[in-house]
Amino acid sequence: MKNIQDLLNLSGKAAVVTGGAQGIGYGVTYRLAEAGAKVLIADMNEEKAYQTAQDLSAKGRAVEALRVDVSSEEDVNHMFSVCKEKFGTVDILVNNAGIYPASTLDQMSKELFEKVIRVNLLSVFLTTKYAAEIMKVQGGGKIINISSIDSLHPSAIGLSHYDASKHGVWGFTKSTALELAEYKIWVNAIAPGGINTPGAGATSQNLDSEQIASQTDAFLAKIPMHRTGEPDDIGMVALFLASEMSSYMTGEQIVVDGGFLLA
Ligand code: NAI
Repeated sequence: MKNIQDLLNLSGKAAVVTGGAQGIGYGVTYRLAEAGAKVLIADMNEEKAYQTAQDLSAKGRAVEALRVDVSSEEDVNHMFSVCKEKFGTVDILVNNAGIYPASTLDQMSKELFEKVIRVNLLSVFLTTKYAAEIMKVQGGGKIINISSIDSLHPSAIGLSHYDASKHGVWGFTKSTALELAEYKIWVNAIAPGGINTPGAGATSQNLDSEQIASQTDAFLAKIPMHRTGEPDDIGMVALFLASEMSSYMTGEQIVVDGGFLLA
């Protein structure tokens, strides 16, 4: 049996983390890079992506950044060319970039619905398609999709577009896991819930402090662990899925929500 350090060692591996500039993507980037992987942060927020890459490089990690809109086929294609050019291979893909602009059905435009589907679901199709081409030639790889508890059950009103996209991500994860297993490409998902990120914080931007406090209290009351999650709670599970620790897993979704779905 391999020792634990070797099982978690990602030295020599190259990873792409979409939306890795902040929040959950940052948590994932941090742990993969700490385990020795070379990581390309692919994010729309160019300034933040380069800043994050610079901060982690200063800590001795091999992290690079690139401005990418994951809903653009051209950008996605370019992203993998850059990863191969910089690191030689693409061994790990983490599909994390996503948006969740709350809107009830009566207020939701066709454009907003389409945007959420493009960024959260079409992007996963595009990245998986191009990554699989490369990974097949390399003889294998790992794809990790950051879905949501909303891929199993709605968490709040105003997320019908989001829930449609995330249910799609979970279905796509299982289907591609089945199709790509033959090529030693393992596809799994992580379903976070209640993670403290800049994106989650921005959803309460229009509320006053009293409304935020009562919303937070109501949300915390639903979490059996009585705390919100941190990006590292997801980063650690992503490391497990990216490493040999999950050697017999594909087509699975790990819920990381402090027990929220139980309540
Ligand atoms: P965040 O908003 O804090 O960070 C998202 C990152 O993705 C940002 O850096 C942003 O620039 C980037 N991004 C957005 N659109 C992009 C695009 N088209 N192309 C490339 N990059 C893009 O969000 P957070 O909370 O860290 O969420 C990350 C993922 O986790 C999303 O897929 C979200 O649906 C999922 N998630 C988050 C939960 C939470 O409680 N925060 C719960 C369940 C799922």
